[in-house]
Amino acid sequence: MGTIEVVNIRLAVVGDSRGIGLVHVRSWQAAYKGLVPEDYLDGLDPVQRGQAWADYLSEGHQAGEAVFVAEADSKVVGFASVGPSRDEDASAQGEVRAIYLLAEFWGRGLGRALMSAALESLPGSGFTEATLWVLGTNERARRFYEAAGLAPDGASKEDSSRGFPMTEVRYRRRLS
Ligand SMILES: CC(C)(COP(=O)(O)OP(=O)(O)OC[C@H]1O[C@@H](n2cnc3c(N)ncnc32)[C@H](O)[C@@H]1OP(=O)(O)O)[C@@H](O)C(=O)NCCC(=O)NCCS
Repeated sequence: MGTIEVVNIRLAVVGDSRGIGLVHVRSWQAAYKGLVPEDYLDGLDPVQRGQAWADYLSEGHQAGEAVFVAEADSKVVGFASVGPSRDEDASAQGEVRAIYLLAEFWGRGLGRALMSAALESLPGSGFTEATLWVLGTNERARRFYEAAGLAPDGASKEDSSRGFPMTEVRYRRRLS
């Protein structure tokens, strides 16, 4: 595994897209193994995902949107994406839309550092609460969110956009 020499959290630039795409796919494959169909995970393409991130990052941000990366030894090993909540019942909620790390970096405090950057960016955009959606069976992530002061708010939804059902639950916390 090796020692991490330099860890840095910073705003993402378009040039990070390939690294973000790789983290996104590898993290899904590790975290969701056994939770979503194997053939779906096998079919995920880091290059395609990186291209989608390049498109998103080059579009220019809407108000309240930001993407952060965690770098270890100048390599992207994690990212977090925030923006206005897209939920129909949202008013002043910012949403943590994604937070993913390469599996070899789990449990070393990097997720916590990314989450702090994500949550600290939200009040500046006028949001008074943070929400996020998590796969109900993703126990590790749920524990992580609870440690970060979020709690289930009772909302759940089924997302079938990937060709199989994913039941997600919503977490929420007030922002100071
Ligand atoms: C979820 C994920 C981002 C968490 O990141 P991480 O780097 O593994 O988590 P950290 O090391 O920062 O935090 C884990 C530990 O710190 C604690 N912690 C985290 N944030 C904390 C906080 N704000 N305050 C106090 N404790 C905290 C946790 O309780 C945990 O404690 P433990 O070491 O006793 O188990 C990471 O595991 C991951 O990428 N998982 C796969 C992808 C995924 O599921 N993403 C979420 C999709 S919705």
